[in-house]
Amino acid sequence: MKKTRKIYQLKLITHKTISDAEKAVAKIVCAQVTKNKKSILSLATGGTFVNVYKYIVQSANKHKIDFQNIKTFNLDEYANLDKRFISESYHSYMHNNLFKHLNINAKNTHFPPAINPTSYDKAIDKAGGIDLQLLGIGHNGHIAFNEPGSLLTSKTRKINLTKDTIKANSRFFDNNTSNVPKQAVTMGLATILKAKKHILLATGQAKAAAIKKLLLNKYDPRYPCTALVYCPNVEIHIDESIRVS
Ligand code: GLP
Repeated sequence: MKKTRKIYQLKLITHKTISDAEKAVAKIVCAQVTKNKKSILSLATGGTFVNVYKYIVQSANKHKIDFQNIKTFNLDEYANLDKRFISESYHSYMHNNLFKHLNINAKNTHFPPAINPTSYDKAIDKAGGIDLQLLGIGHNGHIAFNEPGSLLTSKTRKINLTKDTIKANSRFFDNNTSNVPKQAVTMGLATILKAKKHILLATGQAKAAAIKKLLLNKYDPRYPCTALVYCPNVEIHIDESIRVS
Protein backbone atom coordinates (compact mmCIF):
# COMPACT_ATOMS: atom_id res chain seq x y z
CA MET A 1 0.00 0.00 0.00
CA LYS A 2 1.28 3.45 -0.83
CA LYS A 3 0.07 7.02 -0.47
CA THR A 4 0.76 9.64 -3.11
CA ARG A 5 0.62 13.37 -2.42
CA LYS A 6 1.36 16.25 -4.69
CA ILE A 7 3.23 19.06 -2.90
CA TYR A 8 3.43 21.85 -5.44
CA GLN A 9 5.13 20.08 -8.39
CA LEU A 10 6.86 17.50 -6.14
CA LYS A 11 5.24 14.08 -6.05
CA LEU A 12 5.67 12.42 -2.65
CA ILE A 13 5.08 8.68 -2.54
CA THR A 14 5.01 7.13 0.93
CA HIS A 15 5.44 3.36 1.00
CA LYS A 16 4.49 1.13 3.90
CA THR A 17 7.94 -0.43 4.20
CA ILE A 18 11.49 0.30 3.10
CA SER A 19 11.49 -2.70 0.79
CA ASP A 20 8.26 -1.49 -0.85
CA ALA A 21 10.01 1.82 -1.57
CA GLU A 22 13.11 0.06 -2.91
CA LYS A 23 11.00 -2.20 -5.14
CA ALA A 24 9.02 0.76 -6.49
CA VAL A 25 12.23 2.54 -7.53
CA ALA A 26 13.60 -0.65 -9.10
CA LYS A 27 10.35 -0.98 -11.05
CA ILE A 28 10.64 2.58 -12.39
CA VAL A 29 14.18 1.88 -13.64
CA CYS A 30 13.12 -1.38 -15.30
CA ALA A 31 10.11 0.30 -16.92
CA GLN A 32 12.35 3.06 -18.28
CA VAL A 33 14.83 0.56 -19.76
CA THR A 34 12.04 -1.56 -21.21
CA LYS A 35 10.43 1.49 -22.80
CA ASN A 36 13.68 2.87 -24.19
CA LYS A 37 16.53 0.38 -24.65
CA LYS A 38 18.91 3.30 -25.25
CA SER A 39 18.05 5.16 -22.06
CA ILE A 40 20.63 7.35 -20.36
CA LEU A 41 20.51 6.63 -16.64
CA SER A 42 22.25 8.50 -13.89
CA LEU A 43 22.86 6.23 -10.93
CA ALA A 44 23.27 6.76 -7.20
CA THR A 45 25.19 4.75 -4.63
CA GLY A 46 25.06 4.53 -0.83
CA GLY A 47 23.39 2.03 1.47
CA THR A 48 19.96 3.18 0.26
CA PHE A 49 20.42 1.75 -3.22
CA VAL A 50 21.90 -1.68 -2.49
CA ASN A 51 18.51 -3.41 -2.47
CA VAL A 52 17.19 -1.31 -5.34
CA TYR A 53 19.95 -2.77 -7.50
CA LYS A 54 19.24 -6.25 -6.18
CA TYR A 55 15.59 -5.89 -7.24
CA ILE A 56 16.60 -4.51 -10.66
CA VAL A 57 18.83 -7.55 -11.23
CA GLN A 58 16.05 -9.94 -10.17
CA SER A 59 13.58 -8.28 -12.49
CA ALA A 60 16.08 -8.02 -15.38
CA ASN A 61 16.74 -11.77 -15.15
CA LYS A 62 13.10 -12.68 -14.80
CA HIS A 63 11.84 -10.48 -17.64
CA LYS A 64 15.00 -10.61 -19.78
CA ILE A 65 15.41 -6.85 -19.76
CA ASP A 66 18.10 -5.76 -22.18
CA PHE A 67 20.72 -3.32 -20.79
CA GLN A 68 23.16 -3.72 -23.68
CA ASN A 69 22.62 -0.25 -25.11
CA ILE A 70 21.91 1.55 -21.87
CA LYS A 71 24.36 4.28 -20.92
CA THR A 72 24.99 5.13 -17.26
CA PHE A 73 26.56 8.15 -15.61
CA ASN A 74 27.18 7.78 -11.91
CA LEU A 75 26.68 10.73 -9.64
CA ASP A 76 29.94 10.70 -7.77
CA GLU A 77 33.16 8.99 -6.74
CA TYR A 78 35.65 9.40 -3.93
CA ALA A 79 38.97 11.11 -4.68
CA ASN A 80 42.29 9.75 -3.40
CA LEU A 81 40.75 6.64 -1.89
CA ASP A 82 43.27 4.66 0.17
CA LYS A 83 44.07 1.33 -1.55
CA ARG A 84 42.99 -0.56 1.59
CA PHE A 85 39.44 0.65 0.97
CA ILE A 86 39.30 0.25 -2.79
CA SER A 87 36.25 -2.02 -2.36
CA GLU A 88 34.42 1.07 -1.05
CA SER A 89 34.91 2.98 -4.30
CA TYR A 90 31.69 3.67 -6.15
CA HIS A 91 33.21 1.89 -9.18
CA SER A 92 33.40 -1.29 -7.06
CA TYR A 93 29.97 -0.69 -5.58
CA MET A 94 28.35 -0.40 -9.01
CA HIS A 95 30.24 -3.34 -10.43
CA ASN A 96 29.36 -5.62 -7.52
CA ASN A 97 25.78 -4.55 -6.95
CA LEU A 98 24.63 -4.01 -10.51
CA PHE A 99 26.86 -4.05 -13.57
CA LYS A 100 28.33 -7.53 -13.26
CA HIS A 101 24.81 -9.00 -13.04
CA LEU A 102 23.48 -7.33 -16.21
CA ASN A 103 24.33 -7.49 -19.89
CA ILE A 104 25.44 -3.86 -19.70
CA ASN A 105 28.39 -2.85 -21.84
CA ALA A 106 31.26 -1.70 -19.58
CA LYS A 107 32.22 1.01 -22.06
CA ASN A 108 28.74 2.53 -21.60
CA THR A 109 29.22 3.02 -17.86
CA HIS A 110 30.74 6.29 -16.70
CA PHE A 111 31.99 7.90 -13.49
CA PRO A 112 32.99 11.51 -12.91
CA PRO A 113 36.72 11.85 -13.62
CA ALA A 114 39.12 13.47 -11.16
CA ILE A 115 41.02 15.06 -14.05
CA ASN A 116 39.08 17.51 -16.22
CA PRO A 117 35.77 16.90 -14.38
CA THR A 118 33.71 19.22 -16.61
CA SER A 119 34.38 16.85 -19.52
CA TYR A 120 31.72 14.73 -17.77
CA ASP A 121 29.03 17.36 -18.36
CA LYS A 122 30.01 17.48 -22.02
CA ALA A 123 29.88 13.68 -22.28
CA ILE A 124 26.38 13.65 -20.76
CA ASP A 125 25.19 16.33 -23.18
CA LYS A 126 26.77 14.47 -26.11
CA ALA A 127 24.97 11.28 -25.09
CA GLY A 128 21.67 13.17 -25.28
CA GLY A 129 21.14 14.12 -21.61
CA ILE A 130 19.93 12.08 -18.66
CA ASP A 131 16.52 10.46 -19.07
CA LEU A 132 16.23 9.16 -15.52
CA GLN A 133 18.16 10.49 -12.55
CA LEU A 134 18.30 8.39 -9.37
CA LEU A 135 19.13 10.26 -6.19
CA GLY A 136 19.77 9.40 -2.58
CA ILE A 137 20.12 12.07 0.05
CA GLY A 138 22.66 12.81 2.78
CA HIS A 139 21.62 13.58 6.35
CA ASN A 140 22.68 17.16 5.71
CA GLY A 141 20.55 17.36 2.55
CA HIS A 142 23.37 16.78 0.07
CA ILE A 143 22.60 15.18 -3.26
CA ALA A 144 25.45 13.31 -4.96
CA PHE A 145 28.32 14.98 -3.07
CA ASN A 146 26.98 18.51 -3.50
CA GLU A 147 27.52 19.68 0.02
CA PRO A 148 25.68 22.63 1.62
CA GLY A 149 26.51 25.87 -0.15
CA SER A 150 26.97 24.23 -3.57
CA LEU A 151 25.90 26.62 -6.31
CA LEU A 152 22.88 25.98 -8.50
CA THR A 153 25.18 26.62 -11.45
CA SER A 154 27.76 24.07 -10.31
CA LYS A 155 29.09 21.56 -12.84
CA THR A 156 30.96 18.31 -12.22
CA ARG A 157 33.87 19.12 -9.94
CA LYS A 158 36.08 18.10 -7.05
CA ILE A 159 34.62 18.97 -3.66
CA ASN A 160 35.71 18.85 -0.03
CA LEU A 161 33.46 16.60 2.03
CA THR A 162 31.94 18.08 5.18
CA LYS A 163 32.50 16.67 8.65
CA ASP A 164 28.88 15.45 8.66
CA THR A 165 29.36 13.45 5.48
CA ILE A 166 32.71 12.03 6.58
CA LYS A 167 31.11 10.92 9.84
CA ALA A 168 28.05 9.43 8.11
CA ASN A 169 30.20 7.52 5.61
CA SER A 170 32.71 6.28 8.20
CA ARG A 171 30.48 3.23 8.64
CA PHE A 172 31.90 1.99 5.34
CA PHE A 173 35.49 2.65 6.52
CA ASP A 174 35.85 0.59 9.72
CA ASN A 175 33.89 3.27 11.60
CA ASN A 176 36.98 5.45 11.54
CA THR A 177 36.57 8.96 10.12
CA SER A 178 40.30 9.23 9.36
CA ASN A 179 39.91 6.43 6.79
CA VAL A 180 37.22 8.33 4.86
CA PRO A 181 38.44 10.29 1.81
CA LYS A 182 38.27 14.02 2.40
CA GLN A 183 37.39 14.82 -1.20
CA ALA A 184 35.17 13.48 -3.94
CA VAL A 185 34.27 14.24 -7.54
CA THR A 186 30.59 14.98 -7.92
CA MET A 187 28.15 15.89 -10.64
CA GLY A 188 27.17 19.50 -10.06
CA LEU A 189 23.70 20.73 -9.19
CA ALA A 190 23.31 22.25 -12.66
CA THR A 191 24.19 18.86 -14.19
CA ILE A 192 21.68 17.04 -12.00
CA LEU A 193 18.87 19.55 -12.51
CA LYS A 194 19.06 19.11 -16.29
CA ALA A 195 17.85 15.48 -16.13
CA LYS A 196 14.40 14.83 -17.62
CA LYS A 197 13.06 12.93 -14.61
CA HIS A 198 14.27 12.66 -11.00
CA ILE A 199 13.60 9.82 -8.56
CA LEU A 200 14.75 10.55 -5.01
CA LEU A 201 14.75 7.64 -2.58
CA ALA A 202 15.03 8.28 1.16
CA THR A 203 14.49 5.54 3.70
CA GLY A 204 14.74 5.56 7.47
CA GLN A 205 14.06 8.21 10.06
CA ALA A 206 17.56 9.72 9.78
CA LYS A 207 16.62 11.26 6.41
CA ALA A 208 13.43 12.94 7.71
CA ALA A 209 14.93 16.37 8.42
CA ALA A 210 16.39 16.70 4.92
CA ILE A 211 13.17 15.53 3.27
CA LYS A 212 11.13 18.00 5.33
CA LYS A 213 13.33 20.83 4.04
CA LEU A 214 12.70 19.75 0.46
CA LEU A 215 8.96 19.58 1.03
CA LEU A 216 8.93 23.24 2.08
CA ASN A 217 9.26 23.76 -1.68
CA LYS A 218 11.66 26.65 -1.34
CA TYR A 219 15.25 26.63 -2.54
CA ASP A 220 17.67 26.95 0.38
CA PRO A 221 21.41 26.67 -0.46
CA ARG A 222 22.07 25.18 2.99
CA TYR A 223 20.13 22.10 1.80
CA PRO A 224 21.26 21.22 -1.74
CA CYS A 225 18.34 18.78 -2.17
CA THR A 226 16.00 21.79 -2.28
CA ALA A 227 17.42 22.61 -5.74
CA LEU A 228 14.98 19.95 -6.97
CA VAL A 229 12.11 22.44 -6.59
CA TYR A 230 13.28 23.79 -9.96
CA CYS A 231 12.67 20.44 -11.70
CA PRO A 232 9.31 19.65 -13.28
CA ASN A 233 9.25 15.88 -12.88
CA VAL A 234 10.39 14.83 -9.40
CA GLU A 235 9.19 11.79 -7.46
CA ILE A 236 10.26 11.41 -3.83
CA HIS A 237 9.90 7.86 -2.56
CA ILE A 238 9.99 7.42 1.22
CA ASP A 239 8.88 4.81 3.73
CA GLU A 240 6.46 5.42 6.58
CA SER A 241 9.22 5.91 9.17
CA ILE A 242 9.81 9.34 7.59
CA ARG A 243 7.07 11.43 9.15
CA VAL A 244 6.68 14.56 7.09
CA SER A 245 3.62 16.13 8.68
C1 GLP B 1 26.57 9.49 0.05
C2 GLP B 1 26.55 9.68 -1.49
C3 GLP B 1 25.20 10.12 -1.94
C4 GLP B 1 24.17 9.31 -1.21
C5 GLP B 1 24.14 9.73 0.23
C6 GLP B 1 23.32 8.85 1.11
O1 GLP B 1 27.58 10.17 0.66
N1 GLP B 1 27.51 10.55 -2.03
O2 GLP B 1 25.10 9.99 -3.35
O3 GLP B 1 22.91 9.56 -1.75
O4 GLP B 1 25.43 9.94 0.73
O5 GLP B 1 23.97 7.65 1.41
P1 GLP B 1 23.26 6.43 2.13
O6 GLP B 1 22.29 5.86 1.16
O7 GLP B 1 24.35 5.47 2.46
O8 GLP B 1 22.57 6.99 3.34
